[in-house]
Amino acid sequence: MKNKLIFLFVLSIIGCTTAQKTTKSAITIKNIHPVDSLLALMTTEEKIGQMTLFTSDWESTGPTMRDTYKADIRAGKVGAIFNAHTAAYTRSLQKMAVEETRLGIPLLFGYDVIHGYRTIFPISLGEAASWDLAAIQQAARIGAIEASAAGLHWTFAPMVDIARDPRWGRISEGAGEDTYLGNAVAGARVKGFQGANLTDNNTILACAKHFAAYGAAQAGRDYNTVDISDRTLREIYLPPFKAAIDAGVRTFMTSFNELNGIPATGNKYLLKDILRDEWKFDGMVVTDYTSINEMVEHGNVANEKEAGELALKSGVDMDMQGAVYYKYLKKSLAEGKVTIQEINQAARNVLMMKYELGLFDDPYKYSNVTREKELVFAEAHRKFARRLAQKSIVLLKNKKGILPLPQKSKKKVAVIGPLADSQKDMLGSWSASGHAEDCVTLKKGLQEAGSDLIFSFAKGCNIYDGDQSGFAEAKKMANDADYIILSLGENRGMSGEAASRSNIGLPGHQLELAKMCKKTGKPMIVVLSNGRPLAIPWIAENADAIVETWFLGTEAGHAMADVLLGKYNPSGKLPVTFPRNVGQVPIFYNAKHTGRPFDAKNKYTSKYLDVPNTPLYPFGYGLSYTSFDYGKITTDKRRFTQSDSINISVIIKNTGDYDGTETVQLYIHDLVGSVTRPVKELKGFQQVKIKKGAYKTVTFTLTKEDFMFYDKNMKWTIEPGKFDIYVGTNSSAKDKVTITYF
Ligand code: BGC
Repeated sequence: MKNKLIFLFVLSIIGCTTAQKTTKSAITIKNIHPVDSLLALMTTEEKIGQMTLFTSDWESTGPTMRDTYKADIRAGKVGAIFNAHTAAYTRSLQKMAVEETRLGIPLLFGYDVIHGYRTIFPISLGEAASWDLAAIQQAARIGAIEASAAGLHWTFAPMVDIARDPRWGRISEGAGEDTYLGNAVAGARVKGFQGANLTDNNTILACAKHFAAYGAAQAGRDYNTVDISDRTLREIYLPPFKAAIDAGVRTFMTSFNELNGIPATGNKYLLKDILRDEWKFDGMVVTDYTSINEMVEHGNVANEKEAGELALKSGVDMDMQGAVYYKYLKKSLAEGKVTIQEINQAARNVLMMKYELGLFDDPYKYSNVTREKELVFAEAHRKFARRLAQKSIVLLKNKKGILPLPQKSKKKVAVIGPLADSQKDMLGSWSASGHAEDCVTLKKGLQEAGSDLIFSFAKGCNIYDGDQSGFAEAKKMANDADYIILSLGENRGMSGEAASRSNIGLPGHQLELAKMCKKTGKPMIVVLSNGRPLAIPWIAENADAIVETWFLGTEAGHAMADVLLGKYNPSGKLPVTFPRNVGQVPIFYNAKHTGRPFDAKNKYTSKYLDVPNTPLYPFGYGLSYTSFDYGKITTDKRRFTQSDSINISVIIKNTGDYDGTETVQLYIHDLVGSVTRPVKELKGFQQVKIKKGAYKTVTFTLTKEDFMFYDKNMKWTIEPGKFDIYVGTNSSAKDKVTITYF
């Protein structure tokens, strides 16, 4: 140890006198991790600089950096920048850090690459509706390939927040309401972004956010208080974060909310006890934006300086945009409110990310104009975006098989509605560097599809205002058509951050537009674009077909046309429950039984007077143009012990007229537990392609782990007893077998 210190001391002197940069020679010292050698050269200000993340601005010409921030980069007072991108721009900033600072430590460039960089895929909720993990992983991979070519090292994704409240606008950014599906999607996205090896120049750091329970905001209002039991936290909200770690995620972002009285950004229970101690996470933790500063508003600290001290002591390594570490941490150190060890640890966690990316070897390896030209918005990426968009579409209704439309006929189709030709809305929320002009709308998709159908188009009304001046034209067109396609929903800004809604029906005058069209008596197909489940009971009842398309991204219109015209047989399934009305919220499939479960004949059971308990469309629901018959569920044993695995099989037959893909879902129900258990829990799903007239046997293998839960002492365990196993086409499956664990 003594030798090590002397060695480092000598090195630090060399470092000072030669104003040398952090080249390999400076950071490779025998037996000492290069990052520790570097840390030993750094002043306190430089360490705090590494813990500071500032945003770049964006002007019409591209990203720009305020002069003050540029000065901060040159002074080594900022270690990372977000929202700066493009190879040329990131290179110019990197040059400042590498050539003009004392130690030449490269910057880390972050950005919200949520569902694509320039090639935009469906919003995350839509991607989850594909239930196709390989495709979801591939979308993240492509996002990383494009982003890394544009100089980015780090994405603030995936958002792995479970969301059971459709009022919350950020439900659009995650994988929906279910923990099992959420775990699988979290893992796929992390693997996609980070690839096989972080030192490759086309892989970027992923960030599991927002830690934790952000989606449980009371009343679905963004940033609102979260007060949930430790059981709910651990059973429902935390597992996707752990799944992200298991997939290798290297960074975490704290959330804005308080959790049971303590803001997440100053929450040692979350950030140290669980994240570091229980889960052994050794990556880096960043705040969500100014969430350190916001602790003053939360009211658990008196001022920003105290907020910074609490954040550091709780385990926050990097301060995003709030400049609290930047302004106060040195003073806090001098006053003994924080220790140099705590600062060292945080700075080290940041430097390790740069090291793992290989930035000390080549700080410019990501900022490559040639690669950027070749890869960003590459043709192959667009093709893939179309495939994933097709897979994300969920067919909610198809009365008398009205869809697909007879593309070889000369029938007239009136395409009406405010979303039919809105390019920018197709991008959805958080669309990174996506360009509205790149997006294919439904109108364009139908026009380019090459069918014999005769289309006409009218907007009818806007998404969100009282103007009905377009109704007359729409009515005329509808009267004159053989089919009406209504393109309805939300605009892209109505979901995402700070976009909660208390009324989750169709906004503006869209419902009136639909009612007017219905009066024509023509078959009516509703194509929905939206970032959350909508409460649409009238549409559900009165439309002949309903096609849920979320916001599908760059290739939206092509994918919609593919489905409407039968070039793609829809296969998506809802990753979230659709309520009948907002009064049912929160409504999710894995609820508890209650002591007075619904009984129509008994008033004193758990129900509403004015609406059924059941949702409009359940979790896991989605139709196909073909039909699938589920055979009897069989098992290789009815009784099992710790060491057994148990096989559950079912034969699925395609009994319709089209080849199709079915997502077969397996749910369990623990009949008696020391604590009450949900009526159903998803524990497996498999996607099978089955040709018309053919069948496939699908087998699930369950082990002890699938039946474990936190018992009454919060011990993770399996309890002996009976379990119902359901296999079916969605979460309302009725067919089951009962097995016993002893
Ligand atoms: C959001 C984060 C995002 C960050 C940086 C915040 O407002 O909550 O999800 O990553 O901004 O853009």
